[in-house]
Amino acid sequence: MTTVGSPDDDAATSGTIDSTGMIDSADTIDGIDGIDGGEQPPAYGYLDIDPDTARRASRIYWDDAAADYQAEHGAFLGDSDFCWSPEGLRESELRLLGDVAGRTVLEVGCGGAQCARWLRRQGARVVGFDLSGGQLAQARAYAARTGIEVALVQADAVALPFANESVDVACSAFGAVPFVADSGAVMREVARVLRPGGRWVFSTTHPFVWCLPDDPDENGLRVFHSYFDRRAYTEHDEQGQAIYTETHRTIGDRVREIVAAGLVLHDIIEPEWPTGQERTWGQWGPVRGGYVPSTSIFVTSRPPAR
Ligand SMILES: C[S@@+](CC[C@H](N)C(=O)[O-])C[C@H]1O[C@@H](n2cnc3c(N)ncnc32)[C@H](O)[C@@H]1O
Repeated sequence: MTTVGSPDDDAATSGTIDSTGMIDSADTIDGIDGIDGGEQPPAYGYLDIDPDTARRASRIYWDDAAADYQAEHGAFLGDSDFCWSPEGLRESELRLLGDVAGRTVLEVGCGGAQCARWLRRQGARVVGFDLSGGQLAQARAYAARTGIEVALVQADAVALPFANESVDVACSAFGAVPFVADSGAVMREVARVLRPGGRWVFSTTHPFVWCLPDDPDENGLRVFHSYFDRRAYTEHDEQGQAIYTETHRTIGDRVREIVAAGLVLHDIIEPEWPTGQERTWGQWGPVRGGYVPSTSIFVTSRPPAR
């Protein structure tokens, strides 16, 4: 889980990215300022982004970041454990997916496939997929270390290479949904591959924190950006190519996307920061977490057949 925002949030630029993933030069003035010193953070801003650019940026970012991400967060996630969020919520306690033994379960944006291996240990048939070959290489390394094998597929969550009604349960811990340009397409694709009555549960960044600086402490408790700005947060390299992106939906947008996909929304969990947990993860931490939620978990299902 990477987090929105760069140290100098107020300097973010606005503009558009064309279909090649390059920033339109007319829109780059503020954002490009940040990249010429070498030591500076990449240029960044809030931009309208198309699906191909988001896909390309996510592959660049997650391929590059995979080893560091696992080195930084792997111990907290656990080699084969199902952690829903930086608050440390575990599926072993929440049981949002129900009994998965004997079920076919799809993990969306599986990263190192920690959740998939936990599900395998519960007796599920599991397929984990991810856009990033770098993350899937990490997943294979974990499999070799733990001896727990799950099927791994490289795929984009907006175009699933799985048959209609082939999956009993789908789940995701911050995989794909915060990064795609069209999260409605993810909802539709998951609904398509789910069997009637099947569950789809996903965690993602809480929409409210879009307004707040990327800081787990007091500085993160001021509204600096519009909750209603649906443009993507995007970082760019020296050539203006998008190399990281996060997208935003309001709570209402998320509900509408779920319902429009034909799914039933059962719950939106907004975890409170757990007493005694001091570990921070990006903008997630005990100080800001004592005031506002940073994670949302959507519990949905496909209606049963009539
Ligand atoms: C924050 S990580 C979460 C991974 C894992 N669930 C975990 O908790 O560590 C986000 C993952 O989503 C993947 N991802 C981003 N965009 C995707 C897409 N369009 N389709 C599938 N996976 C995607 C990334 O490659 C990355 O592995």
